Amino acid sequence: MGKMALQSTVRRKNKMKQGNNLSMPLSRTLKIGGLEAKNRFCIQPMECGNGDLKGGFTKDTLRRYEDLFRGGAGVVVMESVTLQYESRAREHQLLLDVEDLHNRKMWESFVKEMKAKYPDPIFIVQLNHSGELSDTAFSKRVCVKPRKDWGGELLDSAYVDKTIEKFAEAAKFLYEIGCDGVDLKFCHGYLGTQILRPYNDRIWKYGGSWENRSRFAFDMCEKVSKAVNTSKFLIGAKVSLYEGMAGGQGHAGADSKQLNLEETFALCRGLEERGASFFIETLGNAETADWQLMCPNKNTSENVYRHMAMAQNLKRGLRPETTVICGGLSLLAEGRFNENHQISAEKNGLLHWGNYCIEKGSFDMIALGRQSFADPFLPKKYLEGVEKDINWCLCCDGCGGLLAQQKPVECVIYNK
Ligand SMILES: Cc1cc2nc3c(=O)[nH]c(=O)nc-3n(C[C@H](O)[C@H](O)[C@H](O)COP(=O)(O)O)c2cc1C
Ligand code: SF4
Repeated sequence: MGKMALQSTVRRKNKMKQGNNLSMPLSRTLKIGGLEAKNRFCIQPMECGNGDLKGGFTKDTLRRYEDLFRGGAGVVVMESVTLQYESRAREHQLLLDVEDLHNRKMWESFVKEMKAKYPDPIFIVQLNHSGELSDTAFSKRVCVKPRKDWGGELLDSAYVDKTIEKFAEAAKFLYEIGCDGVDLKFCHGYLGTQILRPYNDRIWKYGGSWENRSRFAFDMCEKVSKAVNTSKFLIGAKVSLYEGMAGGQGHAGADSKQLNLEETFALCRGLEERGASFFIETLGNAETADWQLMCPNKNTSENVYRHMAMAQNLKRGLRPETTVICGGLSLLAEGRFNENHQISAEKNGLLHWGNYCIEKGSFDMIALGRQSFADPFLPKKYLEGVEKDINWCLCCDGCGGLLAQQKPVECVIYNK
Protein backbone atom coordinates (compact mmCIF):
# COMPACT_ATOMS: atom_id res chain seq x y z
CA MET A 1 0.00 0.00 0.00
CA GLY A 2 1.35 3.46 -0.89
CA LYS A 3 2.15 6.00 1.83
CA MET A 4 -0.86 8.22 0.94
CA ALA A 5 -3.28 5.26 0.94
CA LEU A 6 -1.91 4.06 4.29
CA GLN A 7 -2.32 7.50 5.84
CA SER A 8 -5.88 7.73 4.60
CA THR A 9 -6.68 4.25 6.02
CA VAL A 10 -5.23 5.28 9.41
CA ARG A 11 -7.22 8.53 9.29
CA ARG A 12 -10.40 6.61 8.43
CA LYS A 13 -9.80 4.13 11.27
CA ASN A 14 -9.10 6.95 13.72
CA LYS A 15 -12.26 8.70 12.58
CA MET A 16 -14.26 5.50 13.06
CA LYS A 17 -12.74 5.10 16.50
CA GLN A 18 -13.49 8.70 17.40
CA GLY A 19 -16.78 8.99 19.19
CA ASN A 20 -16.64 5.30 20.09
CA ASN A 21 -17.43 6.17 23.66
CA LEU A 22 -20.17 8.70 23.00
CA SER A 23 -22.86 6.14 23.77
CA MET A 24 -21.31 5.17 27.11
CA PRO A 25 -22.89 6.26 30.43
CA LEU A 26 -19.90 8.52 31.21
CA SER A 27 -20.60 10.46 28.02
CA ARG A 28 -24.24 11.19 28.82
CA THR A 29 -25.44 14.67 29.58
CA LEU A 30 -26.80 15.42 33.04
CA LYS A 31 -29.20 18.04 34.33
CA ILE A 32 -27.85 19.68 37.47
CA GLY A 33 -30.24 22.30 38.86
CA GLY A 34 -31.12 24.51 35.91
CA LEU A 35 -27.93 23.67 33.97
CA GLU A 36 -26.76 20.79 31.85
CA ALA A 37 -23.38 19.06 32.16
CA LYS A 38 -22.13 17.76 28.82
CA ASN A 39 -20.89 14.50 30.36
CA ARG A 40 -20.35 12.74 33.67
CA PHE A 41 -16.78 13.86 34.40
CA CYS A 42 -16.23 16.39 37.18
CA ILE A 43 -12.85 17.92 37.96
CA GLN A 44 -12.26 17.96 41.71
CA PRO A 45 -11.19 21.15 43.45
CA MET A 46 -7.40 20.69 43.77
CA GLU A 47 -5.37 23.35 45.53
CA CYS A 48 -2.18 24.13 43.66
CA GLY A 49 -0.56 26.70 45.95
CA ASN A 50 0.54 28.70 42.94
CA GLY A 51 -1.09 32.07 43.57
CA ASP A 52 1.03 35.18 44.13
CA LEU A 53 1.53 36.57 47.61
CA LYS A 54 -1.72 38.53 47.40
CA GLY A 55 -3.70 35.43 46.44
CA GLY A 56 -3.77 36.51 42.78
CA PHE A 57 -3.64 34.19 39.77
CA THR A 58 -0.21 33.49 38.28
CA LYS A 59 0.71 32.14 34.86
CA ASP A 60 0.70 28.64 36.40
CA THR A 61 -2.82 29.13 37.76
CA LEU A 62 -4.11 30.31 34.40
CA ARG A 63 -2.37 27.55 32.47
CA ARG A 64 -3.83 24.88 34.73
CA TYR A 65 -7.40 26.12 34.37
CA GLU A 66 -7.07 26.64 30.65
CA ASP A 67 -5.99 22.97 30.37
CA LEU A 68 -8.93 21.88 32.51
CA PHE A 69 -11.43 23.92 30.49
CA ARG A 70 -10.00 22.40 27.30
CA GLY A 71 -9.89 18.95 28.85
CA GLY A 72 -13.52 18.09 28.10
CA ALA A 73 -15.00 17.56 31.60
CA GLY A 74 -18.68 18.45 32.03
CA VAL A 75 -17.98 20.19 35.35
CA VAL A 76 -14.83 21.96 36.52
CA VAL A 77 -14.66 22.82 40.22
CA MET A 78 -12.01 25.38 41.02
CA GLU A 79 -9.72 24.68 43.94
CA SER A 80 -10.32 25.84 47.51
CA VAL A 81 -10.35 29.62 47.47
CA THR A 82 -10.02 31.58 50.69
CA LEU A 83 -12.24 34.54 51.51
CA GLN A 84 -10.08 35.45 54.52
CA TYR A 85 -6.52 36.27 53.59
CA GLU A 86 -5.54 36.44 57.27
CA SER A 87 -6.49 32.76 57.86
CA ARG A 88 -5.27 30.36 55.24
CA ALA A 89 -3.64 26.97 55.09
CA ARG A 90 -1.37 27.64 52.13
CA GLU A 91 0.77 30.74 51.76
CA HIS A 92 0.05 30.85 48.03
CA GLN A 93 -3.66 29.98 48.22
CA LEU A 94 -5.97 31.84 45.85
CA LEU A 95 -8.00 34.69 47.35
CA LEU A 96 -11.44 36.03 46.52
CA ASP A 97 -11.99 39.42 48.13
CA VAL A 98 -15.11 41.17 46.88
CA GLU A 99 -14.07 44.38 48.66
CA ASP A 100 -10.82 44.67 46.74
CA LEU A 101 -11.25 46.26 43.32
CA HIS A 102 -8.05 44.79 41.90
CA ASN A 103 -9.01 41.29 43.04
CA ARG A 104 -12.56 41.66 41.63
CA LYS A 105 -11.17 42.73 38.26
CA MET A 106 -8.80 39.78 38.17
CA TRP A 107 -11.67 37.33 38.76
CA GLU A 108 -13.91 39.13 36.30
CA SER A 109 -11.45 39.00 33.44
CA PHE A 110 -10.47 35.40 34.16
CA VAL A 111 -14.08 34.14 34.13
CA LYS A 112 -14.98 36.26 31.11
CA GLU A 113 -12.07 34.93 29.10
CA MET A 114 -12.59 31.27 30.07
CA LYS A 115 -16.33 31.41 29.40
CA ALA A 116 -15.85 33.09 26.03
CA LYS A 117 -13.29 30.52 24.92
CA TYR A 118 -14.84 27.44 26.53
CA PRO A 119 -18.58 27.90 27.08
CA ASP A 120 -19.32 24.21 27.68
CA PRO A 121 -18.00 23.23 31.10
CA ILE A 122 -20.06 24.15 34.14
CA PHE A 123 -17.65 26.24 36.20
CA ILE A 124 -17.96 26.09 39.97
CA VAL A 125 -15.72 27.66 42.63
CA GLN A 126 -15.01 26.03 45.98
CA LEU A 127 -15.27 28.54 48.84
CA ASN A 128 -13.42 27.83 52.06
CA HIS A 129 -12.18 29.02 55.42
CA SER A 130 -9.27 27.08 56.90
CA GLY A 131 -10.04 27.68 60.60
CA GLU A 132 -7.64 25.66 62.73
CA LEU A 133 -5.78 24.41 59.65
CA SER A 134 -4.54 27.96 59.02
CA ASP A 135 -0.76 27.92 59.10
CA THR A 136 0.70 30.00 61.95
CA ALA A 137 3.89 30.60 59.93
CA PHE A 138 2.05 33.22 57.84
CA SER A 139 -1.55 33.48 59.06
CA LYS A 140 -3.87 33.46 62.04
CA ARG A 141 -5.09 30.12 63.37
CA VAL A 142 -8.65 30.26 64.67
CA CYS A 143 -10.68 27.41 66.12
CA VAL A 144 -14.09 26.45 67.46
CA LYS A 145 -12.65 24.40 70.34
CA PRO A 146 -8.88 23.97 70.69
CA ARG A 147 -7.51 20.55 69.86
CA LYS A 148 -4.35 19.02 71.27
CA ASP A 149 -1.36 19.92 69.08
CA TRP A 150 -3.39 22.44 67.08
CA GLY A 151 -4.85 25.12 69.34
CA GLY A 152 -5.78 28.52 67.88
CA GLU A 153 -7.71 31.61 68.87
CA LEU A 154 -11.27 30.76 69.90
CA LEU A 155 -13.90 31.99 67.43
CA ASP A 156 -17.01 33.81 68.61
CA SER A 157 -20.50 33.83 67.06
CA ALA A 158 -20.14 37.31 65.60
CA TYR A 159 -17.09 36.20 63.58
CA VAL A 160 -18.94 33.15 62.25
CA ASP A 161 -22.03 35.27 61.39
CA LYS A 162 -19.73 37.53 59.39
CA THR A 163 -18.09 34.55 57.69
CA ILE A 164 -21.50 33.39 56.48
CA GLU A 165 -22.19 36.85 55.05
CA LYS A 166 -18.84 36.74 53.25
CA PHE A 167 -19.69 33.41 51.61
CA ALA A 168 -23.03 34.81 50.42
CA GLU A 169 -21.40 37.99 49.04
CA ALA A 170 -18.75 35.94 47.28
CA ALA A 171 -21.38 33.68 45.70
CA LYS A 172 -23.36 36.70 44.48
CA PHE A 173 -20.23 38.21 42.97
CA LEU A 174 -19.31 34.95 41.23
CA TYR A 175 -22.82 34.75 39.79
CA GLU A 176 -22.63 38.31 38.51
CA ILE A 177 -19.34 37.70 36.71
CA GLY A 178 -20.59 34.55 34.96
CA CYS A 179 -19.60 31.58 37.15
CA ASP A 180 -22.06 28.71 37.31
CA GLY A 181 -22.00 27.83 40.97
CA VAL A 182 -20.31 27.44 44.31
CA ASP A 183 -19.10 24.43 46.25
CA LEU A 184 -19.46 25.14 49.97
CA LYS A 185 -16.71 23.19 51.68
CA PHE A 186 -17.85 20.93 54.50
CA CYS A 187 -15.01 18.44 54.28
CA HIS A 188 -11.41 17.52 55.01
CA GLY A 189 -11.21 19.18 58.42
CA TYR A 190 -11.50 22.84 57.40
CA LEU A 191 -13.77 25.30 59.23
CA GLY A 192 -17.06 23.87 57.86
CA THR A 193 -16.04 20.45 59.20
CA GLN A 194 -14.67 21.86 62.45
CA ILE A 195 -18.06 23.38 63.24
CA LEU A 196 -20.05 20.29 62.22
CA ARG A 197 -17.93 17.81 64.23
CA PRO A 198 -19.39 16.31 67.41
CA TYR A 199 -16.02 17.39 68.91
CA ASN A 200 -17.41 20.95 68.78
CA ASP A 201 -19.37 20.34 72.00
CA ARG A 202 -18.70 23.79 73.43
CA ILE A 203 -22.14 25.32 74.04
CA TRP A 204 -22.43 28.39 71.78
CA LYS A 205 -24.50 29.52 68.82
CA TYR A 206 -22.53 27.22 66.48
CA GLY A 207 -21.66 24.39 68.88
CA GLY A 208 -23.05 21.74 71.18
CA SER A 209 -26.33 20.34 69.82
CA TRP A 210 -26.73 19.20 66.19
CA GLU A 211 -29.08 22.13 65.68
CA ASN A 212 -26.29 24.51 66.67
CA ARG A 213 -23.49 22.68 64.81
CA SER A 214 -25.50 22.52 61.58
CA ARG A 215 -26.49 26.21 61.79
CA PHE A 216 -23.33 27.40 59.98
CA ALA A 217 -23.96 25.14 56.99
CA PHE A 218 -27.71 25.66 56.83
CA ASP A 219 -27.67 29.44 57.32
CA MET A 220 -24.91 29.75 54.74
CA CYS A 221 -26.84 27.71 52.18
CA GLU A 222 -30.01 29.73 52.83
CA LYS A 223 -28.16 33.03 52.52
CA VAL A 224 -26.43 31.97 49.30
CA SER A 225 -29.77 30.76 47.85
CA LYS A 226 -31.33 34.10 48.74
CA ALA A 227 -28.42 36.14 47.37
CA VAL A 228 -28.49 34.26 44.05
CA ASN A 229 -32.04 33.22 43.52
CA THR A 230 -31.85 31.24 40.26
CA SER A 231 -31.55 27.57 39.32
CA LYS A 232 -28.95 28.63 36.73
CA PHE A 233 -26.45 29.17 39.53
CA LEU A 234 -25.67 25.92 41.31
CA ILE A 235 -25.20 25.58 45.02
CA GLY A 236 -23.57 22.41 46.24
CA ALA A 237 -21.21 21.04 48.81
CA LYS A 238 -18.26 18.73 49.13
CA VAL A 239 -18.87 16.69 52.25
CA SER A 240 -16.66 14.28 54.20
CA LEU A 241 -19.20 11.57 54.95
CA TYR A 242 -16.85 10.59 57.75
CA GLU A 243 -13.42 11.80 58.73
CA GLY A 244 -11.82 8.75 60.32
CA MET A 245 -10.87 10.55 63.55
CA ALA A 246 -12.36 10.48 67.05
CA GLY A 247 -15.00 13.21 67.39
CA GLY A 248 -14.88 13.87 63.66
CA GLN A 249 -17.69 14.56 61.19
CA GLY A 250 -19.62 11.30 60.70
CA HIS A 251 -18.61 9.86 64.08
CA ALA A 252 -20.77 9.00 67.07
CA GLY A 253 -19.69 11.58 69.66
CA ALA A 254 -17.11 14.12 70.81
CA ASP A 255 -14.63 11.38 71.82
CA SER A 256 -15.83 8.57 69.60
CA LYS A 257 -14.27 7.04 66.52
CA GLN A 258 -17.33 4.88 65.96
CA LEU A 259 -19.06 5.72 62.70
CA ASN A 260 -22.46 7.36 62.78
CA LEU A 261 -23.57 8.78 59.47
CA GLU A 262 -26.91 10.13 60.67
CA GLU A 263 -25.61 13.68 60.95
CA THR A 264 -23.78 13.79 57.64
CA PHE A 265 -26.85 12.47 55.87
CA ALA A 266 -29.02 14.97 57.74
CA LEU A 267 -26.55 17.66 56.65
CA CYS A 268 -26.92 16.75 52.97
CA ARG A 269 -30.71 16.47 53.16
CA GLY A 270 -30.90 19.80 54.99
CA LEU A 271 -28.71 21.48 52.36
CA GLU A 272 -30.82 19.91 49.62
CA GLU A 273 -33.97 21.39 51.21
CA ARG A 274 -32.25 24.78 51.18
CA GLY A 275 -31.34 24.71 47.51
CA ALA A 276 -28.26 22.50 47.06
CA SER A 277 -28.38 20.59 43.77
CA PHE A 278 -25.10 18.65 43.91
CA PHE A 279 -22.81 16.94 46.39
CA ILE A 280 -19.22 15.80 45.98
CA GLU A 281 -18.67 12.75 48.14
CA THR A 282 -15.44 12.53 50.07
CA LEU A 283 -13.97 10.89 53.17
CA GLY A 284 -11.19 11.67 55.62
CA ASN A 285 -9.38 14.93 56.10
CA ALA A 286 -6.15 16.75 55.34
CA GLU A 287 -4.44 15.65 58.55
CA THR A 288 -1.70 13.11 57.93
CA ALA A 289 -3.40 10.19 59.71
CA ASP A 290 -6.60 10.47 57.68
CA TRP A 291 -5.04 11.53 54.35
CA GLN A 292 -5.26 8.06 52.82
CA LEU A 293 -8.96 7.86 53.53
CA MET A 294 -9.31 10.99 51.40
CA CYS A 295 -6.64 9.99 48.86
CA PRO A 296 -6.40 6.19 48.64
CA ASN A 297 -3.04 4.79 47.53
CA LYS A 298 -2.01 1.26 46.63
CA ASN A 299 -1.59 0.30 50.31
CA THR A 300 -5.12 1.44 51.13
CA SER A 301 -6.97 0.49 47.96
CA GLU A 302 -10.04 -0.71 49.90
CA ASN A 303 -10.75 2.97 50.61
CA VAL A 304 -11.73 3.44 46.96
CA TYR A 305 -14.64 1.06 47.43
CA ARG A 306 -15.61 2.87 50.64
CA HIS A 307 -15.93 6.06 48.59
CA MET A 308 -18.14 4.27 46.08
CA ALA A 309 -20.33 2.76 48.82
CA MET A 310 -20.71 6.13 50.55
CA ALA A 311 -21.66 7.88 47.32
CA GLN A 312 -24.22 5.16 46.59
CA ASN A 313 -25.75 5.48 50.05
CA LEU A 314 -25.88 9.23 49.72
CA LYS A 315 -27.59 8.94 46.35
CA ARG A 316 -30.25 6.68 47.87
CA GLY A 317 -30.91 9.15 50.69
CA LEU A 318 -31.45 12.21 48.47
CA ARG A 319 -34.00 13.32 45.89
CA PRO A 320 -33.54 11.57 42.53
CA GLU A 321 -32.78 14.86 40.78
CA THR A 322 -29.94 15.77 43.18
CA THR A 323 -26.53 15.07 41.66
CA VAL A 324 -24.12 12.90 43.61
CA ILE A 325 -20.50 12.91 42.48
CA CYS A 326 -18.21 10.15 43.70
CA GLY A 327 -14.63 11.05 44.68
CA GLY A 328 -11.50 9.18 45.73
CA LEU A 329 -11.31 7.12 42.54
CA SER A 330 -7.95 8.03 40.98
CA LEU A 331 -6.26 4.88 42.24
CA LEU A 332 -8.46 2.75 39.98
CA ALA A 333 -6.69 4.12 36.89
CA GLU A 334 -6.67 1.43 34.18
CA GLY A 335 -6.91 -1.33 36.81
CA ARG A 336 -3.18 -1.39 37.47
CA PHE A 337 -3.66 -1.71 41.21
CA ASN A 338 -6.16 -4.47 40.78
CA GLU A 339 -6.00 -6.60 43.90
CA ASN A 340 -9.09 -8.57 43.18
CA HIS A 341 -7.73 -11.41 41.10
CA GLN A 342 -11.22 -12.78 40.52
CA ILE A 343 -11.85 -9.96 38.06
CA SER A 344 -9.71 -8.72 35.23
CA ALA A 345 -7.84 -5.43 35.57
CA GLU A 346 -9.91 -3.71 32.85
CA LYS A 347 -13.04 -4.49 34.86
CA ASN A 348 -11.51 -2.77 37.86
CA GLY A 349 -10.45 0.46 36.16
CA LEU A 350 -11.76 3.99 36.61
CA LEU A 351 -13.67 4.14 33.34
CA HIS A 352 -15.23 0.72 33.81
CA TRP A 353 -16.44 1.54 37.34
CA GLY A 354 -17.61 4.99 36.30
CA ASN A 355 -19.75 3.57 33.50
CA TYR A 356 -20.99 0.69 35.64
CA CYS A 357 -22.03 2.80 38.63
CA ILE A 358 -23.68 5.50 36.51
CA GLU A 359 -25.61 2.87 34.56
CA LYS A 360 -26.77 1.27 37.82
CA GLY A 361 -27.76 4.66 39.26
CA SER A 362 -25.32 4.33 42.18
CA PHE A 363 -24.15 7.89 41.60
CA ASP A 364 -24.29 10.43 38.77
CA MET A 365 -20.75 11.56 38.02
CA ILE A 366 -17.15 10.63 38.74
CA ALA A 367 -14.76 13.20 40.15
CA LEU A 368 -11.14 13.34 38.99
CA GLY A 369 -8.72 14.54 41.65
CA ARG A 370 -5.06 13.56 41.34
CA GLN A 371 -5.92 12.04 37.96
CA SER A 372 -6.64 15.60 36.74
CA PHE A 373 -3.04 16.58 37.55
CA ALA A 374 -1.70 13.51 35.75
CA ASP A 375 -3.87 14.19 32.70
CA PRO A 376 -6.27 17.16 32.51
CA PHE A 377 -7.39 15.87 29.11
CA LEU A 378 -8.71 12.50 30.26
CA PRO A 379 -12.40 13.31 29.57
CA LYS A 380 -11.65 14.50 26.04
CA LYS A 381 -9.46 11.48 25.31
CA TYR A 382 -12.15 9.14 26.59
CA LEU A 383 -14.94 10.83 24.63
CA GLU A 384 -12.81 10.64 21.50
CA GLY A 385 -12.04 6.98 22.09
CA VAL A 386 -8.29 7.37 22.59
CA GLU A 387 -7.99 5.94 26.11
CA LYS A 388 -4.62 4.50 25.13
CA ASP A 389 -3.22 8.06 25.24
CA ILE A 390 -4.31 8.72 28.84
CA ASN A 391 -1.54 9.38 31.39
CA TRP A 392 -2.72 7.39 34.38
CA CYS A 393 -2.11 8.72 37.87
CA LEU A 394 0.16 6.41 39.90
CA CYS A 395 -1.18 7.70 43.23
CA CYS A 396 2.41 8.16 44.37
CA ASP A 397 1.38 11.11 46.61
CA GLY A 398 4.04 13.32 45.03
CA CYS A 399 1.56 16.15 44.39
CA GLY A 400 0.21 15.87 47.96
CA GLY A 401 3.80 16.11 49.23
CA LEU A 402 4.30 19.40 47.36
CA LEU A 403 1.11 20.79 48.90
CA ALA A 404 2.28 19.81 52.39
CA GLN A 405 5.62 21.53 51.75
CA GLN A 406 3.87 24.75 50.63
CA LYS A 407 5.34 24.36 47.14
CA PRO A 408 3.48 24.90 43.84
CA VAL A 409 1.62 21.69 43.09
CA GLU A 410 1.81 19.66 39.91
CA CYS A 411 2.18 16.05 38.88
CA VAL A 412 5.77 15.05 39.62
CA ILE A 413 5.53 12.08 37.26
CA TYR A 414 4.16 13.60 34.04
CA ASN A 415 5.21 17.25 34.46
CA LYS A 416 8.88 16.56 35.08
C1 LIG B 1 -2.54 18.32 46.02
C2 LIG B 1 -3.96 18.17 46.45
C3 LIG B 1 -4.75 19.30 46.58
C4 LIG B 1 -6.09 19.17 46.98
N1 LIG B 1 -6.86 20.31 47.08
C5 LIG B 1 -8.17 20.19 47.42
C6 LIG B 1 -9.02 21.33 47.45
O1 LIG B 1 -8.62 22.46 47.13
N2 LIG B 1 -10.31 21.14 47.82
C7 LIG B 1 -10.81 19.90 48.13
O2 LIG B 1 -12.00 19.79 48.45
N3 LIG B 1 -10.05 18.81 48.06
C8 LIG B 1 -8.74 18.92 47.70
N4 LIG B 1 -7.99 17.79 47.59
C9 LIG B 1 -8.65 16.48 47.68
C10 LIG B 1 -9.13 16.07 46.28
O3 LIG B 1 -10.05 16.99 45.74
C11 LIG B 1 -9.79 14.67 46.27
O4 LIG B 1 -10.86 14.67 47.18
C12 LIG B 1 -8.79 13.59 46.62
O5 LIG B 1 -7.57 13.79 45.95
C13 LIG B 1 -9.32 12.20 46.27
O6 LIG B 1 -9.61 12.09 44.89
P1 LIG B 1 -8.61 11.33 43.85
O7 LIG B 1 -8.50 9.91 44.32
O8 LIG B 1 -9.30 11.46 42.54
O9 LIG B 1 -7.31 12.05 43.95
C14 LIG B 1 -6.64 17.89 47.24
C15 LIG B 1 -5.83 16.76 47.11
C16 LIG B 1 -4.51 16.89 46.72
C17 LIG B 1 -3.67 15.65 46.56
S1 SF4 C 1 2.26 13.22 41.45
FE1 SF4 C 1 1.70 11.04 41.64
S2 SF4 C 1 -0.27 11.13 42.75
FE2 SF4 C 1 0.08 13.18 41.97
S3 SF4 C 1 -0.94 13.22 39.98
FE3 SF4 C 1 1.17 12.63 39.58
S4 SF4 C 1 1.15 10.41 39.56
FE4 SF4 C 1 -0.72 11.07 40.55
